[in-house]
Amino acid sequence: MFYFRVSNVIAAAMLVLSFSGITAAANPDGNSKRFESVYANGAKGDYLAGGHNRKGMNCAVCHGEAFAMDDNESAINKNCVNCHGTYKTLGEAAKKKGGSISAHDGHLVDPSCTSCHSGHEASFVYCNNCHVFAMDIPFGRKEKIPYTPEDFSKYKKVKPNRVENADIVIVGGGGAGIVAAIEATELGKKVILLEKMPIIGGSSLLSSGGINAANTKIQRELGIQDSVDTFVKDTMAIGLGTNNEKLVRILAEGSADAVDWATGLGAELTINPKEVYAKTSVPRMHYTTTGGIGRYLVSVLDKKLKAVGADVRLNSKVVLLNKDDKGRVTGVLVHGKNTGFYEIKAGATILTAGSYANNPEIITRHHPDLKGVVFSTQPGATGDALGLTKLIGAKQTGLDKVQIHPNIATGSSLMVTLAMRTGGGILVNAEGKRFVDDNAPRNELGPVILKQPGQHAYLIYDDAVVAKRKSTHEGYVRLSLVKEGDSPTALAEKLGIPKDALVQTMKTYAEAYKNKKDAEFGRVSLPEPLTTGKLYAIDVVPAIGGTLGGLSVDTDMRVLDEKGKPIPSLFAAGEVVGEWHGDDRYGGNAVAGNIVFGKRAVQSAIKSLK
Ligand SMILES: Cc1cc2nc3c(=O)[nH]c(=O)nc-3n(C[C@H](O)[C@H](O)[C@H](O)COP(=O)(O)OP(=O)(O)OC[C@H]3O[C@@H](n4cnc5c(N)ncnc54)[C@H](O)[C@@H]3O)c2cc1C
Ligand code: HEC
Ligand code: HEC
Ligand code: HEC
Ligand code: HEC
Repeated sequence: MFYFRVSNVIAAAMLVLSFSGITAAANPDGNSKRFESVYANGAKGDYLAGGHNRKGMNCAVCHGEAFAMDDNESAINKNCVNCHGTYKTLGEAAKKKGGSISAHDGHLVDPSCTSCHSGHEASFVYCNNCHVFAMDIPFGRKEKIPYTPEDFSKYKKVKPNRVENADIVIVGGGGAGIVAAIEATELGKKVILLEKMPIIGGSSLLSSGGINAANTKIQRELGIQDSVDTFVKDTMAIGLGTNNEKLVRILAEGSADAVDWATGLGAELTINPKEVYAKTSVPRMHYTTTGGIGRYLVSVLDKKLKAVGADVRLNSKVVLLNKDDKGRVTGVLVHGKNTGFYEIKAGATILTAGSYANNPEIITRHHPDLKGVVFSTQPGATGDALGLTKLIGAKQTGLDKVQIHPNIATGSSLMVTLAMRTGGGILVNAEGKRFVDDNAPRNELGPVILKQPGQHAYLIYDDAVVAKRKSTHEGYVRLSLVKEGDSPTALAEKLGIPKDALVQTMKTYAEAYKNKKDAEFGRVSLPEPLTTGKLYAIDVVPAIGGTLGGLSVDTDMRVLDEKGKPIPSLFAAGEVVGEWHGDDRYGGNAVAGNIVFGKRAVQSAIKSLK
């Protein structure tokens, strides 16, 4: 407390100083009186900043004397941490206190304080963009601000307030963008990575299953024989043959290196030799035993990103791609939350802006039946890259192709990983009966579930499945998604479904396991009899889990125009690219693609630099 008292005295002395020290960016009209009336006593003088002001702490305690405002709000965040501790220490304190889930102890990767705590408006718990936690944040609000797609043509009129330069600008800080930023920075280029949300990670942060790769050291150590050709064949089969086979081959060929690269950065990956996805040939989904692959990999990558010193800008939305009169993309127009509109001139631009799962207009244009169906990606997945490239004549392909994920916890937008099924779980309907090969590709399962009574199903698994994904299961328990029973009868009672039917279903399934043949539904991989320990059930419904269409690229990840010719200096990687998954995505390929294609886009971009 001594520290606070001293700083209060300094703070009081600095009250005047701090107003006169407001920078051009924060105080464009140089009128400090106006700022005093607005931020100290006026409309913006309440909330968290006002709370601090009224406890005797002035503007400078947060803003510093120099009043430097970047879009990461780094100076402010540093000051929050100085007084209150880091996100990690706050999280540890919360854990020690025990009790319910704490916003300071979540799975976002090192979020800044101001991604939840606002200074001059009502704060919002970022977690509740996806969850519905009953958390009160000081000076907070409960209502979400919806993220919606924009018509970017309106920004053509905007005059940038400054111009910056880079060799490579990367649009979107999810998996593909982070990999690209690491690669380009390590290859000595001046890179700027732009992310519109206040946190990095995109939907990549949520990927929960694993990363596919063929012929890896990990597979060889387990005696699993795999090859690039079988990986290609399996991917094409799941995609119903509509995949761009050249891209699939590049993915398969680069996949083992991608796993090596990730493990080289410190990722600890493993494989379950009994876990085969759908009707693929061999186990090749590499995962981590500590929970979701996404949050784990993003945290590993984020450490590397910081270590290489990449220029990462949050709250920075790309609103226009600039083009010269020869048709070359010359960089981007950015809207920074605090620094306003500015231009970045770049030798190459790489689009890694993710999916259009949260773009209802594009989704329902092709699938009127999906109107109002929830999506399980991050909320910023509004298909911006499609809007941005439409204005410069890029070809867009397969926008009708949507990933329907069968396992979203009912009443939420939370995807339950497919690994609970590939690891042994089954799907049972409200009549207590199986109704499908529960290990079928996802796009087959969604529509079948919608035909079941009540349009939902129960994902049922036992302690043997839990043993493979312990922390993932424990997470679902923490979120109160799981019901359990010591026997099929007890579980049926909890779920309110017919007991005899469930008893019979589990008996028949255990026999199928014993005979290595699922006579009823033809499930090929039968990893568990589901007779070990307790039984668990999660109520699930289908949802939009991601998108499969997008930009058309050549094998150098160059974005193509409507005539199929590369648009000079424009590249793409990740979910923004169409065609590589075909009609359905082989679960685990996206994360592998983020690494393989993220790096490849950079290598091509560097070649294109003059
Ligand atoms: C719940 C869930 C589970 C999944 N599980 C798996 C799995 O186990 N294995 C697997 O392989 N795949 C999985 N996937 C799919 C996989 O996570 C994604 O396809 C992949 O991670 C997408 O990576 P990305 O970098 O292309 O996009 P993202 O990670 O979504 O990143 C794109 C980023 O661009 C930003 N952005 C968008 N527009 C702009 C703009 N205008 N300006 C600046 N920034 C912008 C976004 O905010 C976002 O952060 C899963 C997906 C979900 C939703
Ligand atoms: C100079 C030190 C200092 C800085 C900088 C600072 N705080 Fe505080 N903060 C305090 C003190 C002192 C209190 C009051 C504690 C009390 O009354 O028990 C406080 C209170 C709070 C509260 C509780 C409010 C309430 O009434 O419940 C929150 C939340 C908070 N700070 C968050 C932040 C965040 C986020 C930042 C950065 C944007 C920040 N603080 C910056 C010192 C600081
Ligand atoms: C993901 C959202 C989120 C982030 C990020 C976040 N907070 Fe909080 N914070 C909350 C919520 C919700 C509460 C109120 C519930 C509670 O006390 O845990 C809170 C409460 C607080 C409080 C007051 C009570 C307490 O627990 O001490 C302080 C101080 C605080 N936060 C500081 C910070 C600082 C400093 C950071 C950055 C290092 C930070 N917060 C990051 C959501 C967040
Ligand atoms: C508790 C920390 C804190 C204090 C104290 C504080 N601010 Fe802020 N300020 C912020 C944060 C955080 C932002 C980023 C935008 C937001 O969250 O509202 C910000 C943003 C701003 C901005 C940028 C534009 C805008 O409207 O968001 C101005 C200008 C500003 N503050 C002025 C002031 C002035 C003047 C004072 C003193 C009267 C003050 N602030 C006190 C935390 C603080
Ligand atoms: C962009 C969407 C999103 C945001 C934001 C988000 N979550 Fe989650 N969360 C998920 C999904 C999806 C799962 C289930 C998959 C998994 O476990 O990775 C999950 C799982 C969880 C779990 C259970 C697994 C575990 O780790 O124990 C907890 C607890 C949780 N979230 C807490 C939080 C908290 C606290 C925050 C804010 C700091 C937060 N989440 C922010 C999407 C989100």
